[in-house]
Amino acid sequence: MSVPRRGVVLAGGLGTRLFPATLAVSKQLLPVYDKPMIYYPLSTLMLAGHREVLIITAPRDLPLFEQLLGDGGQWGVKLSYAVQAEPRGIAQALTLAGPFLGGQACTLILGDNLFHGPDITRQLLAAQARPTGATIFASEVSDPGRYGVVSFGPGGAVTSLEEKPLRPASSYAVTGLYTYGPDAVDLAGSLPVSARGEFEITDLNRLYLERGELTVECLERGSVWMDAGTHDSLLEASSFVQAIERRQGVKLACPEEIALHHGWLSPDEVLLRAEQLGGPYAAYLRRVAQRQGASGGSI
Ligand code: G1P
Repeated sequence: MSVPRRGVVLAGGLGTRLFPATLAVSKQLLPVYDKPMIYYPLSTLMLAGHREVLIITAPRDLPLFEQLLGDGGQWGVKLSYAVQAEPRGIAQALTLAGPFLGGQACTLILGDNLFHGPDITRQLLAAQARPTGATIFASEVSDPGRYGVVSFGPGGAVTSLEEKPLRPASSYAVTGLYTYGPDAVDLAGSLPVSARGEFEITDLNRLYLERGELTVECLERGSVWMDAGTHDSLLEASSFVQAIERRQGVKLACPEEIALHHGWLSPDEVLLRAEQLGGPYAAYLRRVAQRQGASGGSI
């Protein structure tokens, strides 16, 4: 049985690695192929059953996120917002979620992380069923030094967890998807500031490791994890989504479709949403709704 758990999307930061593209707009609002970047992490949470999600943004970007996503009613979910005044790290952002979480366990996802594949939902649901401790998700990559890196001993036990090491001890990057028990906010608040002036999520995860409460799930080979935080990775992520969507005629990270799948929206409500939008996305929504037995035509 799944433990009640709230979702948090971190969409703060200045996006300096994407300057000048992010001088006037949040990185997480930039398009990844055909939809705003934040649709992808939100969809990952929704696929794993989250209906109550907090979005943490920089002060400048809050109005645009509210304009784009509103209160989530269009998808049958409840979205709320918090502001991270300065980019002081992912762990600091987690402390801002304290009032929203109200002592509940949570799933945290970074707003520039894209996951694809059914095994991810299965692994995330398994992690969410653990009432305490932390679960992180690792993925083999060719450039681990860009990320948090986790290494394993011969028996599979975690031997180290480091943030952007110069000499990575393994090729397993820590992805931007985490589940935490109810103590995470307090633990995050107890961390010291790092050498680069941030409160590091890797330091929080290391605390759980030291307490023997860290689970590492390695993503399956067929699962895809991408981040879109640099010009090249943003373009690669867009190309990936384009390739799948054009080949298969499906849309990745379509929140209306996920809501329909869960029964959070009726087919007619999805049709109504299509009426409000337009273009190929609306055409896709109409197809999805009609397949599920919408009354058809305009409503
Ligand atoms: C952050 C985390 C890092 C993680 C990465 C995943 O890094 O600090 O541990 O591997 O996200 O995208 P950032 O990309 O914010 O520098």
